[in-house]
Amino acid sequence: MVMKKINFCMALAIPLAGAQASFADIVESTPSGVDPRVEYRDCPKCDKRIRVDLAAGKAYVNLSRLEGAKREDVAARAARLLDAAKIPPTSDPKIRPLMGWSSWNTFGCEISEDVILETARAMATNGLKAAGYTYVNIDDGFFWGHGDDGILRFNPNRFPNGMKPVVDGIHAVGLKAGIYSDAGADTCGSMWKDAKGNYDKGGKGGGLYGHDAADCKLHFVDLGFDFIKVDYCGGSRLRLDERRRYTEISEAIKATGRTDVRLNLCRWAFPGAWAADIAESWRTTGDIRANWNSLKGIVKENLYLSPYAKPGAYNDMDMLEVGHLKGHVKTAFGKGDEGFTADEETLHFGTWCILSSPLLVGCDVRTIPGQTMDLITNPYLLAMSQNDLGLQAYVAQRVGKDGYVLVKDAVERFGKSRYVALLNLSDESLEFTVESSTLDLGGEVEVFDLVERADPGSFNDRFTLSLRPHSARFFRFDAEKRLERTVYEAETAFLSEYQELRDARQSGTAFPSEFAGASGDVAVACIGNRETNDLIWKNVKIDRGGKRTLVFRCMAPDAWHFFVQVDGGEKVRVDAPATDGKFVDVPLEVELSEGVHAIRVSNGSAWAPDIDRMTL
Ligand code: GLA
Repeated sequence: MVMKKINFCMALAIPLAGAQASFADIVESTPSGVDPRVEYRDCPKCDKRIRVDLAAGKAYVNLSRLEGAKREDVAARAARLLDAAKIPPTSDPKIRPLMGWSSWNTFGCEISEDVILETARAMATNGLKAAGYTYVNIDDGFFWGHGDDGILRFNPNRFPNGMKPVVDGIHAVGLKAGIYSDAGADTCGSMWKDAKGNYDKGGKGGGLYGHDAADCKLHFVDLGFDFIKVDYCGGSRLRLDERRRYTEISEAIKATGRTDVRLNLCRWAFPGAWAADIAESWRTTGDIRANWNSLKGIVKENLYLSPYAKPGAYNDMDMLEVGHLKGHVKTAFGKGDEGFTADEETLHFGTWCILSSPLLVGCDVRTIPGQTMDLITNPYLLAMSQNDLGLQAYVAQRVGKDGYVLVKDAVERFGKSRYVALLNLSDESLEFTVESSTLDLGGEVEVFDLVERADPGSFNDRFTLSLRPHSARFFRFDAEKRLERTVYEAETAFLSEYQELRDARQSGTAFPSEFAGASGDVAVACIGNRETNDLIWKNVKIDRGGKRTLVFRCMAPDAWHFFVQVDGGEKVRVDAPATDGKFVDVPLEVELSEGVHAIRVSNGSAWAPDIDRMTL
């Protein structure tokens, strides 16, 4: 049964232009007992019941939209929404996704002392620093090889005074400084032509290879850099082993005595769960460009990587291409960078936030458009990224081929507040109908639109919302109840050997893949054949302990089996029949106590069936 207190479906389907009608004058002075930041206003034509005005430090309750709720209750919620705009301090800044700027997207190798210092000064004063954008990262283009003495040299035309005044200048305005290198001998810029058809010759022999200790001492002890991105063009050329090489580099950083330096691996594909042990972030895709196809491709490649993110360790979706609105594009690459519509830019930024990617602005921040500035400093969107939970949202529902509902906890693990994104990556309008139970929420669910900074009301059971092509909506849902999760998709589980460096099927490492007939059209293939090539749902939360039936939906060409283990206990064999190309349900009864459990699927000696999901 649909029981809507307020017609969320209709409310949110109203075009934004109409919805912007501002709340009229105060109709009633704020009564005593109500937070003085909250004002009672009236706007019969507005589709929101609360609107937050952060510049004024106020939240307005629309008395025409109470829909039966008590005005004091709505006022109390309005005050809580104001409070939610404050990003809580962290005990350790290293555990949150990195925020800052990087030179590559706009300047390519054409960087200079002036560009970097002007950028740092602009960030310090234009609101970016205040919003948390802290790192000023110098990407490729500063190299001048290594000298005969083995010391790294800097391009004398671009950095005539060396790097010390640059790092000091960045630090002087209260920001942190980032640098770049390659795991091999040569840099990417020295191997790939720029837009004018030139190679950056200074990058030849500029990489870390053979210079780990000296370069790390120079960067982190002598110059005082705080971050390094380590690329892999030179590493690929030398056919180095990624895990060994990046581990050596992380050891060399540690050997300098600095414990606060943040390391980013740039191998353009998910390297493996080991990356989280040595780096704070790792690139998962090829280079982003300021166009829709690039953006869409990167989003799709990151949707099933949530199990590998944790506090202080994140999938890096690449630097942001915000600030390149259609008709106002200024990137280093020109051709193909046709820029974004406002909807696409919002989708871009919000998705990077909810998926907990590092947030490195890539545009020229000296001339950043006001609209972009407003978007990327929106504290409600930033709160999805800048919290200590370290969660990347996972796909809770798919709508058609290119519609996704993403969800993650907002305030505490397994709490009643969750962030929800609806993404329409398709070229058509899409209608999303989402059950609150799909989001593990129950009872009345209060809605806050993070982009509009407004509360349209609440819903029970389900809502329907239509999204324009190439657009997204980002919400915080505050529910009456948190329900026990009953559906665990295999593609949201941790695959111990998952990697994208080599062909997964040939390497025999488990991977999520599109499967006709699977729920959400995705299942996990290639599990087993080795004890370590397993699948683990690490956070199976049981509210009331007792006997439970786990139902595995799986597919196998023959009578195959797998083992199920709860919290590292006894392995129980589960037999699946030959399933004739279809997914079938195979049950297993287990005893689960109240609390959080790890449920592991493995087969040490033969292939396990492909697994679509587990329900309980
Ligand atoms: C690679 C990286 C980019 C950038 C360039 C610099 O392509 O993926 O992010 O650092 O190298 O040359």
